[in-house]
Amino acid sequence: MGRCIVVTSGKGGVGKSTITATLGVAIAEAGAKTVLVDADVGLNNLDLVLGIESIVGYDVLDVEKGRCRLSEALVAHPFCEDLYLLSSRALSGGQISQRSFANVVNALRRSFDYILIDCPAGIDEGFHRAVSVADEAIIVTTPVPASVRDADKVSNLLASYRLRRVSVVVNRVRGDLVLKGDLMSVEDVTSVLRLPVIGSVPEDDEVLLSATVGKISDARSRHYRAVCMIASNIMLGTDAIYDCTAKYRGIIGFFRKIAR
Ligand SMILES: Nc1ncnc2c1ncn2[C@@H]1O[C@H](COP(=O)(O)OP(=O)(O)OP(=O)(O)O)[C@@H](O)[C@H]1O
Ligand SMILES: [Mg+2]
Repeated sequence: MGRCIVVTSGKGGVGKSTITATLGVAIAEAGAKTVLVDADVGLNNLDLVLGIESIVGYDVLDVEKGRCRLSEALVAHPFCEDLYLLSSRALSGGQISQRSFANVVNALRRSFDYILIDCPAGIDEGFHRAVSVADEAIIVTTPVPASVRDADKVSNLLASYRLRRVSVVVNRVRGDLVLKGDLMSVEDVTSVLRLPVIGSVPEDDEVLLSATVGKISDARSRHYRAVCMIASNIMLGTDAIYDCTAKYRGIIGFFRKIAR
């Protein structure tokens, strides 16, 4: 039976969809059959982040309404073997009930090793629907107090669900600003949230500039290397965290820091 992990956050726009998509690529590249489920009905954008919006046909609402079989709604990523997407486009209209969503996810558990759910922003019905079916949750936060405070609120909410594990990914980390004390470090975030941090992902202009994960999941990219470490922590139980500050330490780092 597949492991179902929901990627959530308190604050919107912190990088949930980007992390979900890149983590999906990293886990699939490591050889596990993976499906990404877009639970952001109406504001879905995982297809765009993956760069496969033009080949999405049916979606999760079509499955619920009986317009297609689940297997027909799964879109195989053209360049990443073992990675699939179950979309939820606004075009279909309507909302999916919690029970139908759970039925779909439970059916996916039989065919996939990992099911990653991209949770909508906020803590309303969509959040509840996505979190209720998951076994584990990842809270994405950025290293600033407002975002961490929202993550803390979500962490308190998650305590009322039956989740085996809740962990944190700190995204958009500028190592130079962490060293200056302007952004929170992984240790700071850990001590506020009192949850294990399983990843630290650098702020990377290429992520912002490239429209799709297809372009950024390149072994040379710092972003992708950081996400691969998260994949390995999830899959193998390791606890390696990308050091976003390393680039700015030492004499070369000193010049990098002042050049920014
Ligand atoms: N590590 C990063 N470095 C630079 N830009 C990033 C990084 N992670 C995400 N972004 C950018 O931040 C923006 C928001 O990312 P994303 O859409 O993944 O957030 P989200 O949490 O899913 O948003 P929402 O709450 O609206 O669903 C995007 O433009 C994305 O390219
Ligand atoms: Mg999103």
